[in-house]
Amino acid sequence: MASKMTTVCEYKPGLEGIPAAQSSISYVDGQRGILEYRGIGIEELAQKSTFLETAYLLIWGELPTNEELEAFKKEILYHRRIKYRIKDMMKCFPETGHPMDALQASAAALGLFYSKRALDDPDYIRRAVVRILAKIPTMVAAFKQMRKGNEPVQPCDHLDYAANFLYMLNEQEPDPIAARLFDVCLMLHAEHTINASTFSAMVTASTLTDPYAVVASAVGTLAGPLHGGANEEVLSMLEEIGSVDNVYPYVEECLQHKRKIMGFGHRVYKVKDPRAKILQSLAEQLFEQPGCDKYYDIAVEFEKAVEEKLGYKGIYANVDFYSGLVYCKLGIPRDLFTPVFAIARVAGWLAHWKEQLEENRIYRPTQIYTGSHGVSYKTMAERDSYPC
Ligand code: SDX
Repeated sequence: MASKMTTVCEYKPGLEGIPAAQSSISYVDGQRGILEYRGIGIEELAQKSTFLETAYLLIWGELPTNEELEAFKKEILYHRRIKYRIKDMMKCFPETGHPMDALQASAAALGLFYSKRALDDPDYIRRAVVRILAKIPTMVAAFKQMRKGNEPVQPCDHLDYAANFLYMLNEQEPDPIAARLFDVCLMLHAEHTINASTFSAMVTASTLTDPYAVVASAVGTLAGPLHGGANEEVLSMLEEIGSVDNVYPYVEECLQHKRKIMGFGHRVYKVKDPRAKILQSLAEQLFEQPGCDKYYDIAVEFEKAVEEKLGYKGIYANVDFYSGLVYCKLGIPRDLFTPVFAIARVAGWLAHWKEQLEENRIYRPTQIYTGSHGVSYKTMAERDSYPC
């Protein structure tokens, strides 16, 4: 029987520009700075929607009716708490460990408690989606408390998704405006087509493993500084710059040493990330007038300087540039910025997991072999006689 001929496409490092899936979940136009979730512009969702409603839209493809949304919110509320065994496991984590490593371990551990798989059962899919969306914020907040030797703060049932996370984190009910701003941040970070962590989720999902392993894979991928970890680095960079006067010399030094500037550049956007624009307006609301927070003023000057120097290469501020400033103002510790990104992006990972299962084919790309052939085995004596 003739073997299925596969045409080998041209090799592109990092699969740049190579379609790895067909998807209807989100759309990005990198030249025009457009991001749509299920066809709805991110700007309109940020204004009119909430994170849970947006998660529902991404995962099930339509905006929920009032009844559907209320039922979804109630299910999430019911599943917010985590098993005491997961808390006991966290007690063994070193307090100096990075919260993204703690989150990856805890997300994978969820699979130990829900080990029955039924990937072709819509009820199983819904239960897994609800559990993961509901428990990830609780696990992030629990590790933050426990690494300080405190008991985790139990979820507060009369607070909505965003407010409850800030409550579990800071042990006090957040200001409603702060909670709303945080909810918008979660929406902005929820989904972004086939980014590295979503692709990682899809590859893991394609082997038909459980959704908890899928999320654990994606968390590990998001943690890298070239991806979700950049927001944490941006604040350190602004601190290192220290003053508005030092911005241009700092940028010059980065360029001289060909250092990647955190919070800038994007594989797809060659204009300012539409999410960065919205995050900047949130930061402006939080910082009101210039001068009230020096790091915001440094950031605005820094963005201007980088645009002047690198805009011609299509390098502009991305989603990670202003998010850290907003999180800082909301009382979120710096090393939790990327776990917060993960809390939001779980919606996108779960949407792609569900979509992948609907028409699955295990990922197995090919390679261009650059090694040798027909090499003979060398005995230890022959090896030891290699010229030094
Ligand atoms: C996220 O994919 C997604 O959608 C990701 C994300 C999502 O929502 O999931 O949007 C979230 O990950 C945002 C990106 C966060 N990361 C950072 O801010 C880290 C800094 N950014 C860079 O590392 C970089 O821009 C990447 C990784 C984001 C994209 O890199 P590419 O597409 O691989 O580009 P490249 O490294 O091939 O660079 C092309 C040129 C190079 O110059 P030349 O060698 O051609 O002269 O642009 C330069 C690079 O040096 N360049 C930068 C730069 N980014 C690219 N130069 C300085 N600073 C930068 N940030």
